[in-house]
Amino acid sequence: MNKSKFPLDENILKNIIENHEVDLNKIGIRELKRLVDDLADQLNIDFLHFEFGVPGIPADRMGPEEEIRVLTEDKKLPSTYPPFDGIPRLKKATACFVKAFLNIDVEPENCIPTVGAMHGGFIAQAIAGRRFKKTNTILYLDPGFPVNKLQTKFLGLKNDSIDLYNHRGIQLAKKLEKKLSTGKIGAVLWSSPNNPTWLCLKDEELKMIGKLLTKYDVIGIEDSAYFGMDFRFDYGVPNQPPFQPTVANYTDNYIIIISSSKMFSYAGQRIAVSVVSPKLSKKKYSNLKKYYDTKSFGHAFVHGGIYPTTAGVPQSPQHALSALFEATCKGEYDYLSRVRTYGDRANKAKEIFLSNGFELLYDKDMDEPIADGFYFTIKRKVMTGGELLHSMLLFGMSGIPMRPTGTKREGVRICVSLVPQEQYGELEKRLKELDQFLKIR
Ligand SMILES: Cc1ncc(COP(=O)(O)O)c(C=O)c1O
Repeated sequence: MNKSKFPLDENILKNIIENHEVDLNKIGIRELKRLVDDLADQLNIDFLHFEFGVPGIPADRMGPEEEIRVLTEDKKLPSTYPPFDGIPRLKKATACFVKAFLNIDVEPENCIPTVGAMHGGFIAQAIAGRRFKKTNTILYLDPGFPVNKLQTKFLGLKNDSIDLYNHRGIQLAKKLEKKLSTGKIGAVLWSSPNNPTWLCLKDEELKMIGKLLTKYDVIGIEDSAYFGMDFRFDYGVPNQPPFQPTVANYTDNYIIIISSSKMFSYAGQRIAVSVVSPKLSKKKYSNLKKYYDTKSFGHAFVHGGIYPTTAGVPQSPQHALSALFEATCKGEYDYLSRVRTYGDRANKAKEIFLSNGFELLYDKDMDEPIADGFYFTIKRKVMTGGELLHSMLLFGMSGIPMRPTGTKREGVRICVSLVPQEQYGELEKRLKELDQFLKIR
């Protein structure tokens, strides 16, 4: 029998960690990529990459073909600046999409394209967090996407956190009210399905959140980076229930960010849309004037936010997203059937981790088992996330530690997007060996 390649040489890993000057408990995604690449090159190992939260399936041709078509047919397009608030076609297509898949009524003027959801989240925080002098804190429903917190820092705003593991349902409402009633919170930011745990907020929770947002005049930033991807429900049929739950049903203080990156595997073209509630758009806050030369929320978003950051979004990706939304709304393109494969992968991968001595870190979604999607989280006895990552690296696997996501719970996030099921035989083999290794350590 061939001798196993694993565990890899611990001294080599130690040297690489020292050279890169990283702490595995806190390591970010880019640093981890460099470390894993170095390790893989030095030892000639193919890693199972569970660290990247990037799309793992190709984009449909419709997007690129539309970009090529508009660039070819409209010779003036590349030399023309885009409107800051987006091309009319995308604004209209977004309003239709929001009606068809959330059952929410907004006008095209309320739909503002941004350079990815990252850009939308940045501006949303900048405006929501500066409406009043004192309300300069962004409250996260954690764990969450670490980059949003970097944005909060960059903007000179403060951040606060509620961990969704300990606070669901009425407990979430109680904790939220305690925080909002301090008068320090400008916005509450969450993703649902959630990166990294895949928790999904329930409609009744969004109702409680919405009521509190209205009561304390706080903005809900609903980051729908994984739009419709709670695969326990079929949210993919236009104009028919079930509709993905949204806080927009319960408050006028919302911004919904819809990203093309995961739902349409269109991450490279950096296009998303922020839907700013029609009533909020028109609201005036005198403190905004100091930062954005206007008191109006909607005007501040476009002329105070988009203009000085990117001065608009490239037009061909806006056309691509328009085409994708239009086809989806007509029922001609079923985006969910393509991304559902992530759920199948997660289901199988979880089984393999669980039968080899690992447990799910975030295991329950209220009283149900956590759903299968893009991510799940694992733990192992008393190991820290960094220790767990270290031992995974020795067996040619990588994920990201949970600490930077804003939780105190220790573990590792597993993203299934880049590991297709054909590699699950290899996954099982490596996890079995890792399990034995950890048992005798
Ligand atoms: C919760 C969340 N928000 C936003 C993003 C980034 O989206 P975009 O590519 O549209 O900037 C991601 C990407 O992983 C994410 O997980």
